[in-house]
Amino acid sequence: MQEHTISSFEEYEKVYGQSIENPESFWADYAETFDWHKPWDNVHSGSFEEGNVKWFEGGKLNITENCLDRHLEERGDKTAFIFEPNQPDGLTRSISYKELHQQVCKFANVLESKGIEKGDRVAIYMAMTPELTIAALACARVGAVHSIVFAGFSAQSLADRIQDCDAKMLITNDGLRRGNKLVPLKEISDEALESCSTVESVIVCQHADNDIEWKEGRDEWWHLLIREVSREHEAVEMDAEDPLFILYTSGSTGKPKGQVHTCGGYMVYTSYTLRNVFQVDEDDIYWCTADAGWITGHSYIIYGPLLNGVSGIIFESTPMYPDAGRLWEVVEKYSVTHFYTAPTAIRALMKEDIDYVRRYDLSSLKVLGTVGEPINEEAWNWYNEEIGNEECPIVDTWWQTETGGIMISPIAGVTPTKPGFATLPLPGIKPALLDDDGNEVEGNDVQGNLVISYPWPGVTRGIWGNHERYMDTYFNKYPGYYLTGDGCRRDKDGYYRITGRVDDVLNVSGHRLGTAEIEDAIDDHPKVVESAVVGYPHDVKGEGVYAFTICEEEITDPEAFKTEINDLITKTISPIAKAGKVQVVSGLPKTRSGKIMRRILRKVAAGDTDDMGDISTLLNPEVVEEVKAGKAY
Ligand code: WT7
Repeated sequence: MQEHTISSFEEYEKVYGQSIENPESFWADYAETFDWHKPWDNVHSGSFEEGNVKWFEGGKLNITENCLDRHLEERGDKTAFIFEPNQPDGLTRSISYKELHQQVCKFANVLESKGIEKGDRVAIYMAMTPELTIAALACARVGAVHSIVFAGFSAQSLADRIQDCDAKMLITNDGLRRGNKLVPLKEISDEALESCSTVESVIVCQHADNDIEWKEGRDEWWHLLIREVSREHEAVEMDAEDPLFILYTSGSTGKPKGQVHTCGGYMVYTSYTLRNVFQVDEDDIYWCTADAGWITGHSYIIYGPLLNGVSGIIFESTPMYPDAGRLWEVVEKYSVTHFYTAPTAIRALMKEDIDYVRRYDLSSLKVLGTVGEPINEEAWNWYNEEIGNEECPIVDTWWQTETGGIMISPIAGVTPTKPGFATLPLPGIKPALLDDDGNEVEGNDVQGNLVISYPWPGVTRGIWGNHERYMDTYFNKYPGYYLTGDGCRRDKDGYYRITGRVDDVLNVSGHRLGTAEIEDAIDDHPKVVESAVVGYPHDVKGEGVYAFTICEEEITDPEAFKTEINDLITKTISPIAKAGKVQVVSGLPKTRSGKIMRRILRKVAAGDTDDMGDISTLLNPEVVEEVKAGKAY
């Protein structure tokens, strides 16, 4: 992969300079390497101020032709995916580009036979199997907009997402096994669908062989449907700016937002970032351990690797099953060259006996990546020494669901790295730091709110059905910039270090959770009058959920109360949002305008109560002492 791949730091500096000087010709140059039915009219139009950014508009394409058809001649027999199932001794599968193409074409024909048309929304709630990828790509092939929902979300969360985008179809499994646990996906889907009137059909892909209920006329088996269809399918022509998918993500307020990514810009951006950041070569085996229910899976398991003709791994299990050696066992088993995971996994594994690592041959590894949260220096060093044998560059990749792909990151083997630093922006990306008044903080050795000053092809094009919220969240506060919600430091060498969210968003084990959403769930408890959720430092999860609750009556059994709260959170959101600590209080510190002063709660949650800062503007300063002295369970 030589072309359009940066191979030295001097080249990075040169290409970066050119890309910032003339972003349009930079991106057009790369976009030309894809198959288009018709070239675009405009490389780029619109602005952040107006919230109408477009790339390659008028260009006609289908992204799946670029993921699949384009490779058939040269790479038809090459492995597209290796599937590693939950059970270490389960059936592994290897799927070539030719087979994947056939499966996607078949399933595209199934979708059309069920009345799915361009622009329809299809929800996908599935296990991490090749079929999930086939389902997503088949949607893209017929022009339907996929909305993948992580298979750890509750019936309520699934229903919220289906309702928000009026999905016409749901594709799911009978169930999945994660470690020793069975997740009854069909049963959860049935419950969700009770409140989703737009879903006309459900396709069930057999996987866990658990017992399920069947709704005649609505439910159909995947394996029966694909028997009857052709393995050829003519891809539906899409405009570059037609939506490709919706992916929901939590923000500081309200329900999750449906981020909309479009066909052309997302394709160009994920492809470019994968090949450059990871420097993947033709014979490499690339493994991203994320779940396809998150953006990391969309961009760096499904689209990015396939666009580049790479061989990837689809991993169904977890780092701890059956023991803490599983990831390294898989690296050895398939001679993985590129390994991309989250800091939380690294922190959990470094606590285990080092023999779980040393028992496996990891010499195939060339590049290591991390994503999702800040990585602490200790974890970075362990990853470097124990996993990379100090020979593998580590790419600490900063980006977001909204950015479509990696934004600030080392280029493997090219950018000199520093533990804990995402280092430098990729070509085409222009970051800036703003003070709270919106002025750019110039120079080095400074910090501020991280914003991006110029549109790039992968940026979210909207929040499904809510343009106003899109403008308010990202563009209205500092006109002319895209607001990331992250705090960031630029050190003396101009290197970027992400310090974490500056809004009311938590990052628990790399999962993004809105405090408002969790509070809504807690407030459903009959005894709870009001609650406030903040994060607290957690040595494995990065951040844990700390809930302060005001209750109507005395809580005599706080442990039981905590369990009830967590059952509610599990039911309305997901077990990943469960509170690690619950503290009952008689009041919450509030400003005179009635806003909870979370700064104070964060300090209490962190156990850092020596200096509470200025509390004179509080309406009820007397609660501070009580909150400080209280006990959490
Ligand atoms: C938030 C985005 C990007 C895919 C996974 C998460 C945090 C992400 C890093 C990193 C420090 C990071 C930020 C960001 N984050 N990568 N390398 N270093 N923080 O996507 O769920 O949209 O969350 O994750 O706070 O805003 P997401």
